[in-house]
Amino acid sequence: AAILLKDYRPSDYAIGRVHLDFQLHETETLVTATLSVRKRETTVAGTPLVLDGDELDLVSIALDSVSLGDEAYSATPQGLTVKTPPAAPFTLTIVTKLDPASNTKLMGLYRSSGVWCTQCEAEGFRRITYFLDRPDVLSVYDVRIEAPVAAAPVLLANGNPTTSGLVPDTDRHFAVWSDPHPKPSYLFALVAGDLGVVKDSFTTMSGRHVDLGVYVEHGNEERAVYAMDALKRSMRWDETAFGREYDLDVFNIVAVSDFNMGAMENKGLNVFNDKYVLANPDVATDQDYGGIEAVIAHEYFHNWTGNRITCRDWFQLCLKEGLTVFRDQEFTSDMRSRPVKRISDVRLLRSHQFPEDAGPLAHPVRPEKYMEISNFYTATVYEKGAEVIRALKVLIGDEAFKAGMDLYFDRHDGDAATIEQFVACFAEASGRDLSQFMLWYSQAGTPQLDIRDDYDGDNRTYRLTLSQSLGPTPEQSEKKPMVLPVRFGLVGPNGEDMLYETAKGAEVNGDVIVVDKAEQEIVFTGVASRPIPSILRNFSAPVRPILNMPIKDILFLMRHDSDPFNRWQSASTVAMYCLTASTEALRAGSSATIDGDYLAALAEIITDDALDPAFRALVLALPQEADIAREIGSNVDPDAIAGALRHARRTIGSKLGPTLDHLARFYHDEGAYSPDAESAGRRALANAAQDMRAASGNADVHARIMEKFGAATNMTDRLAALVSLVQNGASEAEQALGDFYEGYKSVPLVIDKWLAVQAARPGARTLDEVKRLTEHPAFSIRNPNRVRSLIGTFATANLPQFARADGAGFDFVADKVMRLDDINPQVAARILVSFRSWRNWEPVRQGLAEAALKRIAAKPNLSRDVRDIAERSLA
Ligand code: ARG
Ligand code: ZN
Repeated sequence: AAILLKDYRPSDYAIGRVHLDFQLHETETLVTATLSVRKRETTVAGTPLVLDGDELDLVSIALDSVSLGDEAYSATPQGLTVKTPPAAPFTLTIVTKLDPASNTKLMGLYRSSGVWCTQCEAEGFRRITYFLDRPDVLSVYDVRIEAPVAAAPVLLANGNPTTSGLVPDTDRHFAVWSDPHPKPSYLFALVAGDLGVVKDSFTTMSGRHVDLGVYVEHGNEERAVYAMDALKRSMRWDETAFGREYDLDVFNIVAVSDFNMGAMENKGLNVFNDKYVLANPDVATDQDYGGIEAVIAHEYFHNWTGNRITCRDWFQLCLKEGLTVFRDQEFTSDMRSRPVKRISDVRLLRSHQFPEDAGPLAHPVRPEKYMEISNFYTATVYEKGAEVIRALKVLIGDEAFKAGMDLYFDRHDGDAATIEQFVACFAEASGRDLSQFMLWYSQAGTPQLDIRDDYDGDNRTYRLTLSQSLGPTPEQSEKKPMVLPVRFGLVGPNGEDMLYETAKGAEVNGDVIVVDKAEQEIVFTGVASRPIPSILRNFSAPVRPILNMPIKDILFLMRHDSDPFNRWQSASTVAMYCLTASTEALRAGSSATIDGDYLAALAEIITDDALDPAFRALVLALPQEADIAREIGSNVDPDAIAGALRHARRTIGSKLGPTLDHLARFYHDEGAYSPDAESAGRRALANAAQDMRAASGNADVHARIMEKFGAATNMTDRLAALVSLVQNGASEAEQALGDFYEGYKSVPLVIDKWLAVQAARPGARTLDEVKRLTEHPAFSIRNPNRVRSLIGTFATANLPQFARADGAGFDFVADKVMRLDDINPQVAARILVSFRSWRNWEPVRQGLAEAALKRIAAKPNLSRDVRDIAERSLA
């Protein structure tokens, strides 16, 4: 049954203290939970205590040390009820038996490469013991772990270490950890295993000494050094940027190889997918380094936004996730280039969140209903959640935003809070009524902002008409106008922003127009000549702008706008015009074309040495197939899109040949590798130029790239060369794939890249190749990273092959989803999301996709995770 936000009520009982004792064993782990339970004042005495469970095996239960009789409780694998608990505080002692080795769902306590580890968010703690497994029940935890010394010399849990020692007359030892900060069960964590460690320390702004550790498999210590560095920079940054200090004596990070998501912010013991920890120049790309820096920061920042202040219920997930993404984006902006980070984030938002908002899985940033909460760790909650906070900051200004954050930390420290409480802090700090702004949290869908303008030369007035609209989404047919802070400039003939005398028709604060009605006409007086409007600078609100402007004006902004974001935005708008027009032309049986003025402006920007190379690389990157499909919106033919893209790349690759060759040579760095943003930017430009050049199909170019592939001194350049050879159909591709495998077959995270490159390969042979790879010894259906790299990449980054006209791509992915459903439902549900835009495809593909979805929905014993996605997709 669905869980509804409006049904929220506090728990009947509180659990003040938790003592956990783990007797670790591969297949028979015993957990003794001793809970200090107390009836809440408003609860009627004798109200049953109902604890959550999930696939649990109860060994014994006692109340105040007296074993409970059969009539006093009822227990199933899915829950435990104490029928008439005492009115006075009492202690409940529950013993459960777990089999970590056969826990393939990777939720609760499981084994990963011989290490015992846990994942409890959102509802994994109930797979360890019976509990009030909800984020508004905060308890102080003490944890005793006992395990064989040989298998688990390292014993870690949340909080600070207290005692440890050998267990006499056995081969076992123990450690006790105490966490003084009350926390919800989803932040519980334990790790035990034979691990290597990189140690360091940090002194906080008030002088607290913190021991830091990054734990990895033996032999990988050297690959954990960058993560440690990122951690220390994150700790310092949170002090200076947000005034937030760390609050325990130790902070540990553990990298595990089997992990459902990116990482987890457990108090004092963050557990990571090893993909976001391990790096050296030989195995990690610049993108991997950036990902590690961002995720290390993200999880660390949760210590305040998530842990010290947690969520009242899971509907409030964006309270911690949207805010923490916002914070990690700001961190990266300060560490690297702010405009480049902004452009990258908006690209991600458009490619992942906009399609979600536009399809059957659309939901508000704060959902009001869910079947399975794991399915709501989405781009909407995370990325749009961050955008909403960014828009709030634009709306109320930097100073009021900072005051609002300080108030939030001050007022809600120790609370399980709500979005209303969060937004109230900013309303108070700014003096602004934010009730209309709250619609960002409740209305799903991407608002469209329609822009029209008119210049009256006689009266020197300029009229800007901005209208917003928001289409229907599941269960929301009627929408209200929202508050859109629109950053803008009126660009004059010399490229500089023009001055004006007055602006009437909407609230205009500096360079921000506050749009809060369905349509607003802003009249600017004293405007010397016709300006070109630069709207939504720095992407000041997560909307879809409709420009109604001639291409030549957009090209002008591409070349002259003072806002780097809008320069990039204009370039990608023009590219999109060309690509959608070519797609239509190809479907109508004529040929694709590309605008000559666009080519000229592109050449001008990529050769402008005054611009950051990383920025130029982003301008050179064309929209992807899925972006074009989303822009077209309905009756989509992926083959025509692929044809248009191929044509555009081939044309740019040959027409700008010498320019691209020069950039590839000039920015190719020969020196020692450094992952810093500037060096990474140079590599990005060299490799983007090389890749576009390879699209020309020139055999000499391919041969040169093959040489660079062999001679590369770092993974960034090596992988870029491999991708260019494979994507552009070079005759050397097979050889390069073979060499790459031979060189890296012992490094699973690099094998993931090898799998992904093949899954994204164009051409009808790819499906058979991907099927063959599922049988390859390097692949394992039990490892989420392998599954995402091979099957996930095929389903999300190879639209023409996934959405093949014969339906074979859908059938393959559907078969894998059903197989995964029995192993790891969370991962299965994630893969299934790739069908979400099925109604946008042309009728034949629509029918085939629908049949595949129905076949999944009809599978016996379907998990709740997959059922939820399948049913919402079909609704
Ligand atoms: N809170 C984690 C983060 O930093 C995500 C964990 C979600 N895990 C899950 N199984 N749903 O974003
Ligand atoms: Zn998070």
